[in-house]
Amino acid sequence: MASNSTGGNTGGPLAGGDLLTLASLSGDTIDRLLETALAMKRDYGPYARVLAGHSAILLFEKPSLRTRISFEVGIAKLGGHAIYMDHSAQRLGERESVTDYGRNLERWVGLIVARVFRHSVVAELAAASRVPVINALCDLYHPCQALADYLTLREKFGSVKGLRIAYVGDGNNVCHSLMHGAAILGAHLVAITPKGREPSAEVARECESLAHASGRGGGFTITNDPEHVQGADAVYTDVWVSMGEAAHSATERKKFLKYQVNEALMAKAGPRAVFMHCLPAKRGQEVVDGVIDSAASVVYDQAENRMHAQNALLAMMFPGGR
Ligand code: CP
Ligand code: NVA
Repeated sequence: MASNSTGGNTGGPLAGGDLLTLASLSGDTIDRLLETALAMKRDYGPYARVLAGHSAILLFEKPSLRTRISFEVGIAKLGGHAIYMDHSAQRLGERESVTDYGRNLERWVGLIVARVFRHSVVAELAAASRVPVINALCDLYHPCQALADYLTLREKFGSVKGLRIAYVGDGNNVCHSLMHGAAILGAHLVAITPKGREPSAEVARECESLAHASGRGGGFTITNDPEHVQGADAVYTDVWVSMGEAAHSATERKKFLKYQVNEALMAKAGPRAVFMHCLPAKRGQEVVDGVIDSAASVVYDQAENRMHAQNALLAMMFPGGR
C-alpha cells in the first residue's frame, strides 16, 4: 500500500497505510501510538476485536524470536489470525517476482509483516499489494524495535523529549531507526561507533530534516569516541555483526573492542542511565553479563513492549476494528 505510506485518510494518520520506516511518522502519530500501547498494556479488553476477521502473513527471510512471537501472540490478542512463513531457505523474488508475491498475498490476507534482507524488497511488496505492509527488519531499518524502545523510555522517564541516548557499537538498522525516533520525538541520539561503522550519511541527512520538521529539539551526534556516553540517560547497544553480514576479520573485531558496554563504560553514563539492547545479545562481545543482568538493564521490558507497540500500530492501521 505504498501510495499511502504516510497515511492521511479519514481513518487517521496510519489507517490502511504501511510502516516501512519510522521516518514516515509524525511526532503526534508516534505519541498517540505510545499512549495506545500503554492503554493496551493495562487492558487489552477494549481492543479484542481490532483484527477480527483478518489474517496476517509473517514472511521472514531471517530468523527471529521476539518479532515472530510478539506479532503472533499480539495478533491473537487483537482477534486476528497470523500465519508464519519461513523464507530462510529461499529469498523472496527467487521463485516468483516480489510484485507477484504481493499481488497474490493481498487476495487472502489483510496484513503483511515482512523481515527481509534488502529494504527494496519490503518496499516492492508494499508497492505491489493493497494491504498494509510492516517492515519487521531489513538491512536499513527496524522501525518496530524503535517504537518498543521509545515506549520503554517513556515508561522509565515519563517522556522521551530531552533524553540523551548513547548508542554504542555498529551504526546499523537498529541505530538508524533509533535516530529517526530521536529526531521526531525530541531526543538526542549520540551514535558512538568504530571508524567506518558510522550510521549511513543518508539517514543522518534525513534525521536533520525530521528534527527540523518536528521542532521538538531532537537531533544526533556521530562520533568514534566512547567518552561521549557521558550524561546519557540510556546506553544502547546491538550485535557487532548483523544477520546476513559476513563475520568480521580479526582487525575489524579489534576495532569494536573499545565499544563494549561493560561496567566501566556504564559508570561514565549518567547515574540514572538505563541499559538497552534489542536482543539477541552476544554476551561477552558488545555487552557483558554484569551490565545486561544489572538493575539498570531494561532489555526484557523492551522485548515485552515489542508486542504492545506493534499492537498499537495495528490498532491505528485498522481503526474500523473496534
Ligand atoms: N529484536 C528483535 O527483532 O529480535 P528477533 O530478531 O528475535 O526478532
Ligand atoms: N542489527 C541486528 C538486529 C537484530 C534484531 C540484525 O540486523 O541482525
